[in-house]
Amino acid sequence: MSKPVKPRIAILISGTGSNMDAIIRACASGRLDADIAIVISDNPGAPGIKKARSAGIETFVSRYGRETPREESESEIADVIMKRSVDWVVLAGFMKILSPGFVKTFRGRIVNIHPSLLPSFPGAHAIRDVLEAGADFTGVTIHIVDELVDHGPIIAQEEVPILPNDTEKSLAERIHEVEHRLYPRTLQQLLHDDV
Ligand code: GRF
Repeated sequence: MSKPVKPRIAILISGTGSNMDAIIRACASGRLDADIAIVISDNPGAPGIKKARSAGIETFVSRYGRETPREESESEIADVIMKRSVDWVVLAGFMKILSPGFVKTFRGRIVNIHPSLLPSFPGAHAIRDVLEAGADFTGVTIHIVDELVDHGPIIAQEEVPILPNDTEKSLAERIHEVEHRLYPRTLQQLLHDDV
C-alpha cells in the first residue's frame, strides 16, 4: 500500500526563524504531519536561512525590494511555491506585506502568526506597542491571511500575561515560548481539517 501523501508547506521568513525551527522540529518528531517543501526569505542575511539549510531543507532567497519591484518579486515567489506543489504558505516572521494579487493566488491557504491578540495591536511593533499602552495582558494569534494587514479569520489565540517589570525582550521571550508550542499544533489541526 502506498503511503498517504503529506500536506506540503512553504515557510516564508525574514529573520531569526525560531518559529520556522519549531515547525521543522515538529515535522521531524511527527507532531506535525507535513513536508516542508521550501523555506523562502526576502532577506539574504536571515539567520533562519542557514538553519533551514542545515536541516537539509531547500531554500530560496528573493531579491524582494532590492533590485526588483514588489510585483516581480512576489510573482517569482509564487512561481517557486507553485512549482513545488505546495498546499499551504506559512508565514513565520515574514516582514513584507503581501499584495492582494499574491493573496488571491493562494486564497485561504496562507497562514500567519502575530505576537498580539488581534485585532488589538496589529503592525510590526506589536510587543513594543502593547507595553507602551500599559496593558495587563497580550498574546499570540494565528490567522488566515486576507488582503488587509494582520487581518483575516482567526484560527487560534492564546493569552500571555504582562508582568510588572517586563521589558520588550522579556515579554518577547515569553511570547515566543507560546508561539513555538501553538504554531505547530495549530498547523497540524488546520492541515488535517481539525479546526
Ligand atoms: C514572531 O514573534 C511572530 O509572531 C512575528 O514575527 C516573529 C518572528 O520570530 N510575526 P522568529 O523569526 O520566528 O523568531
